[in-house]
Amino acid sequence: MPKDKNQLMKKNTMENTNEMKDTNRRQFLKTTLYASIALGLSACGKSADADAPAHTSHAGMNHSTPPAGVPFDMTRLISGAPFAAPALLVFDALEHHVRAAALNIAPSKQTVTRDGASSQLWTYQTADNNAHGGAMIDAFEGETLRITAHNHLPEATTVHWHGIAVPPEQDGHPHDAIAPNAAKTYEFTLDADSAGTYWYHPHPHGKTATQTAMGLAAPLIVRSRTDPLAALGIPDHVLLLTALQLDGNAQIAAHTMDEQMNGRDGNVVFVNGQHQPVMQVAPNSTHRFRLINASNARYMRLSFGGLKMTVVGTDGGLLAQPLPAQSELLLAPAERIEVLMTFDKKLPQVKLQALPYDKGWMDGGMGGQKPILTTTDLMQFELAGEAVTSVIIPQKLRDIKPMGQASITRRIVLTEHMQMSMANGVHSMKMDFMLNGQSFDMNRIDFSAKQHAVELWEIVNQTDMDHPFHIHGNHFQVVSIEQNGKITPIQYLAWKDTVNTRAGQTVRLKIAQKHTGVRMYHCHILEHEDLGMMGQYEVLA
Ligand code: C2O
Ligand code: CU
Ligand code: CU
Repeated sequence: MPKDKNQLMKKNTMENTNEMKDTNRRQFLKTTLYASIALGLSACGKSADADAPAHTSHAGMNHSTPPAGVPFDMTRLISGAPFAAPALLVFDALEHHVRAAALNIAPSKQTVTRDGASSQLWTYQTADNNAHGGAMIDAFEGETLRITAHNHLPEATTVHWHGIAVPPEQDGHPHDAIAPNAAKTYEFTLDADSAGTYWYHPHPHGKTATQTAMGLAAPLIVRSRTDPLAALGIPDHVLLLTALQLDGNAQIAAHTMDEQMNGRDGNVVFVNGQHQPVMQVAPNSTHRFRLINASNARYMRLSFGGLKMTVVGTDGGLLAQPLPAQSELLLAPAERIEVLMTFDKKLPQVKLQALPYDKGWMDGGMGGQKPILTTTDLMQFELAGEAVTSVIIPQKLRDIKPMGQASITRRIVLTEHMQMSMANGVHSMKMDFMLNGQSFDMNRIDFSAKQHAVELWEIVNQTDMDHPFHIHGNHFQVVSIEQNGKITPIQYLAWKDTVNTRAGQTVRLKIAQKHTGVRMYHCHILEHEDLGMMGQYEVLA
């Protein structure tokens, strides 16, 4: 932490500290000296450096200036273009199950408005293609990927293969940062039975949120040669959902205080980098959609115009059996879901929408406003061509074994703490997002675990809002969700790596790690992760 921030923190705790009284159940802890980020605000919330260009602020979280000036005019967006799958990361030919690729991590100008304004984003690029939406990795179980990541950003980064059980040293841990103009080769094998929908994103220390907010996120699909749905010829589509916050100049805006506390929801949701694309589908045809919530913090309560969808897969691939058809589902940040949808020949147009969802709200008392909950159109489907016969969904998708008896129980308690202070006429805000009362420290290992041992983790959300909880390494099985003393067991078998916890809930899950080494676990509201809601543990042989 830079020295000036330390000084600011000390000042805040010494002088005229004014602990905010909050009306709700938030558990205020005593003023602590946990590693945290203190944010300076000038008097009355007016910005001292209002004319600093907002888009330079991605370099750090310690910005107090809300994006200056007029909001982005949504009617300028290019919308309604034909749906496009993400660009593919180009690999060399497969040799002895090894495929190699160069991945460029670099600034990229993207035209997003009809008037031709370009946004300066950061993207994952493949040879000759810097599409917003990122270079998709599309591979099969059993293959070894050797990916050389070249960092052309002005700051250090790492690449984290979210949900893939790679060895810890290949996992993009903040310890293993790639300096600007440097490169790192990641190499890992896609395990047997690991087919599923994953994604990759940056994970550098303290800058995961700002880098992801610049546009860094891309799909990683692992396929199986014996996928029962692929065998039926069901068309398979990847939908990477990102939510960017554009300012009046169509540039990525600086984080505001409210976004630090509640996570960035973004004002524009893109599907594979496109705004409201249109897909043509045959009447009665059944499609498989792999939806990835690659936003910093936006909860997506998804609906296909109320049509029934059948969930067939979660974070870690296919379920044992399809779930009963449902008309909406919640996709928390970092979660993935696979659904089958049949387009009724009587409905010429269907919209995929994100319905209003209240994830809770932390009010820092800085005059911010809880966002108004609205419905957002994500994409549209139009019937075209001859009707086809719809497919019968197989009732058995995969073998998933229950994990069995846990040998140890761990409790991970999520808390938050906010404190506003005033010194020399300057307001400042100190925010802590904690796990078991501590903020993340790269040099602290929180506990150790035994390789292959089944552990029961209780994730206890004692805050006022939702937090999606994620564990690196192996997948887990969610066992139950407890709310107000009522425990609801999860009746179906599914592999997950991210699970939402609502305020007041306790979520129980079982996990066993297959590799030894250090693993992180954290809230996947990326702003919270950067503000300390993260821990790490060591898996020992
Ligand atoms: Cu997708 Cu540690 O994160
Ligand atoms: Cu991860
Ligand atoms: Cu959180």
